[in-house]
Amino acid sequence: ATPRPILGIETSCDETGVALLRWEPQAPGQGLLAHALYTQIKLHADYGGVVPELASRDHVRKLLPLVREALAQAGLTPADLGGVAYTAGPGLVGALLVGAATGRAMAWALGVPAIGVHHMEGHLLAPLLEEDPPEAPFVALLVSGGHSMLVEVQAVGRYRILGDTLDDAAGEAFDKTAKLMGLPYPGGPALAKLAASGQAGRFRFSRPMTDRPGLDFSFSGLKTQVLLAWRQSDQSEQTRADIARAFEEAIVDTLLIKCRRALAETGARRLVIAGGVGANRRLREELAAAGVSDGFKTYFPRLQFCTDNGAMIALAGAIRLAHGQQQDESVQVFPRWDL
Ligand code: KG4
Ligand code: ZN
Repeated sequence: ATPRPILGIETSCDETGVALLRWEPQAPGQGLLAHALYTQIKLHADYGGVVPELASRDHVRKLLPLVREALAQAGLTPADLGGVAYTAGPGLVGALLVGAATGRAMAWALGVPAIGVHHMEGHLLAPLLEEDPPEAPFVALLVSGGHSMLVEVQAVGRYRILGDTLDDAAGEAFDKTAKLMGLPYPGGPALAKLAASGQAGRFRFSRPMTDRPGLDFSFSGLKTQVLLAWRQSDQSEQTRADIARAFEEAIVDTLLIKCRRALAETGARRLVIAGGVGANRRLREELAAAGVSDGFKTYFPRLQFCTDNGAMIALAGAIRLAHGQQQDESVQVFPRWDL
C-alpha cells in the first residue's frame, strides 16, 4: 500500500513553511505533493532583524491558511493525512510553539501520529527531496543563519559532528557584515548580490582557522576586518561591492578548505551542502568545481529548499514516522537542541 501523505510544518524563525509529502524510500525525490511558504521578511525589515514576538504572532495568522493552500494544491483533505511533522527546535520558542501546538492539535483531532523534528536534521536531509539523492555515508556542510557545521551522516539519525562554529555562524556573518556596510535586512543575499559586481583582488580578508588542524569555524573576526576596511575606505558603491566580494571569497574559501579536510578525514566521497548559505552561488560553484577536480560528488537542495521550508520537515518527519517513531500529545519544543 502506498503510504499516506505527511504534513510538514516549519515555524522556527521567520518563515512559515508547509508541505505535503508521501515518503517512499524506493522513490526519493518523487513524493512531494505540495509546498507553500510565507516569508515574514517585510515584517522584520524595519527592525533590522527578526523580532520574536512579531514572528510568533504572524505564524499564528498564516499557518492554517497555508495548510489549507497546500492541501488544495495537492487535491487532498485533512482526512487524507497519515501524520504530522513539525519543527520542535532549535529556534525561537514562541515561533516553535505555534507550529508544534497546531501540528499536535491537528494530529490529535485526526487520530494520526505526530513527531517533532530537529530543524537542522531537516536541512541535512533536504537533498533527499531531489532526484539522484545522496546515499549514506556522506559529509554534510550545514551553513545557515544559526549554524555552521560539518556532519558525518552514517545513516538517517546517525550523525557525528565533525566541526562547529566557535562564534558566528556563516549566515550570521553574512548578515552582520551586510548590516555594518549599511545593507538592509536580511543582509546575506543582498551582500552576495553586491559581491557579484565586486572587483576581485582589491581587498583580501583572512581564512579563519585554516592554518591549524581541525574542522571548527570562527567567523566573527572576519566581520571586524570588514568593519575596519569599510571605515577606512571612501565608502563608495564600488568599494562596498569590492569588500563584499572579498568577504564572500574569504567565507567560501574557508568552507571549501574545511570540506576538503572533512572528506579526507572520513574517507567519504559524497558532500551535501545545505542550509540558507547553501543558496550562495559562489559557494555552490566552488564546491562543485572542487568535486570535479578532487573526485567527490556534490549534492545541493534546490535553492528554495536551502533556506527554511516545510518540505524538509515533512521529509525528516516522514522518515522517522515510517520507522515507527512518534511522541505523545504533550506539546514540547526545544529552543536549544543539539543535533
Ligand atoms: O537556513 P536559513 O533559511 O535559516 C536558518 O535556519 O538560519 O538560513 C538563513 C541564512 C541567513 O543568514 C541568510 O543571510 C543566509 O542564510 N543566506 C545567504 C544567501 N541566501 C541566504 N547567505 C549568503 N548568500 C546567499 N545567497
Ligand atoms: Zn534553517
